[in-house]
Amino acid sequence: MSLKSTQSSIVFDMSKRKRLYIKTFGCQMNFYDSERMMEAFAPLGYEQTEDAGDADVIVLNTCHIREKAAEKVYSELGRIRQIKAKRRQDGKRTMVAVAGCVAQAEGNEIIRRAQVVDLVVGPQSYYRLPDLLFRACQEGRRIVDTEFPEKDKFTQLPARIIRKSCTAFLTVQEGCDKFCTFCVVPYTRGMEFSRPVEALYDEASGLVDGGVRELTLLGQNVNAYHGIGRDNRQWSLAQLLARLAEIDGLQRLRYTTSHPRDMSDDLIAAHRDNHKLMPYLHLPFQAGSDRILAGMNRKHTSAQYLDIVARIRDARPDIALSTDIIVGFPGESDEEFEATLAIVRQVGFAQAFSFKYSPRPGTPAAALDEQVSDEAKSERLARLQEFLSADQRRFNEGFVGATMSVLFEKQGRHNGQIVGRSPYLQPVHASGGDQLIGRTCDVEISGAGPNSLAGVIKAARLGIIQAEAGA
Ligand code: SAH
Ligand code: SF4
Ligand code: F3S
Repeated sequence: MSLKSTQSSIVFDMSKRKRLYIKTFGCQMNFYDSERMMEAFAPLGYEQTEDAGDADVIVLNTCHIREKAAEKVYSELGRIRQIKAKRRQDGKRTMVAVAGCVAQAEGNEIIRRAQVVDLVVGPQSYYRLPDLLFRACQEGRRIVDTEFPEKDKFTQLPARIIRKSCTAFLTVQEGCDKFCTFCVVPYTRGMEFSRPVEALYDEASGLVDGGVRELTLLGQNVNAYHGIGRDNRQWSLAQLLARLAEIDGLQRLRYTTSHPRDMSDDLIAAHRDNHKLMPYLHLPFQAGSDRILAGMNRKHTSAQYLDIVARIRDARPDIALSTDIIVGFPGESDEEFEATLAIVRQVGFAQAFSFKYSPRPGTPAAALDEQVSDEAKSERLARLQEFLSADQRRFNEGFVGATMSVLFEKQGRHNGQIVGRSPYLQPVHASGGDQLIGRTCDVEISGAGPNSLAGVIKAARLGIIQAEAGA
């Protein structure tokens, strides 16, 4: 037997225990994809490991959204090169795959730049990952697969594996047809696609049977969702949310990321009518100046954005709003940046993600003259973040003394501490036993930090008191 085939048999020998290491970068959709990749390897006898040095297969699931995100991948590959060399010395084979949006955007360039990589696979074809790796392994050649196949990849993936966590992501929509001039997503994820309602209902029901209590529906443009429903018509996201809310045992629903253009009346009404839908909305506005918004091809004005905010607050007065903001888009003047601050002051966000504009190869904005200097971008970002942090702190402090329902998700960093999320997505820390993980408890909030809350569990106290009284 040749060395090559002996080694491939180690990576794919069904009788051996094998390990898979996946490192995920980028958005929640990549995290969802990584879970599905893990599930695709499970039937071949793979277990997940947190230690790349222990892994027979290493997958980097990458993000291309900003320059720094993409560069991180190459520095990670440098580290993996050393791991692979060390394992080779020990007589062990390691297969390395790059998946996700850098894979899609750079394809062959990755193979050229990083000798350590055996396989490059795009976000639409990762369901073929085990097969492709097997081929790369057997044939001893490096493979690039960045096709956008005709098939719905979700129907090609194995069933979900029961998870330990009480929260889960569920990708309902993928891709984007909006072509904001700064953004790579339409190129890396392809055209918009919505999964059928009943396939999502079945996946969600399975997750709930496995202990999931909170589902976050995902899509690059989640509120552009228009999947086929039971009546063979296109259903909106609000209709999908109503259908999923019928699942017994599912307590909470969320969705992200929305585009202002697709914030339809029925979705706004769902925030009033669907009682499982949590009072939190992530709605990026990107910039406050209408000239910059037009240059970004966002297809909305700041007045339209503020109108949506007013209508959603009308439907659900306590809703917590979150957003994404870019500073230093090409041509943005100081006054135009002030317009961004004005929106921030007017809305009062509970949470926000803000970024310096990063020119991305192949996007229209990268070719514009008048790129803003890095110094100006840094200054603007620092000023903006001061406002955003103050708002977030104020939002959190407003809950001290209040009682909130918290779904506990996991143990905290300290002994005897558990952590969950409030309806407004704030992490909440409390003292409590593991038996409360997966349960929703009333928590009296006693303290607030910039990013989280602390409190005392009321229901658990009540439980102890009842137990002591023999109730
Ligand atoms: N689909 C979402 C955004 C997905 S990308 C939407 O339309 O809002 C997540 C965020 O990254 C964007 O909202 C934007 O704020 C930021 N982003 C995208 N491209 C960027 C770039 N080239 N430079 C800086 N930030 C960028
Ligand atoms: Fe990117 Fe714009 Fe599509 Fe969002 S809507 S993914 S920012 S192109
Ligand atoms: Fe990044 Fe791709 Fe998500 S570029 S943000 S991983 S869609």
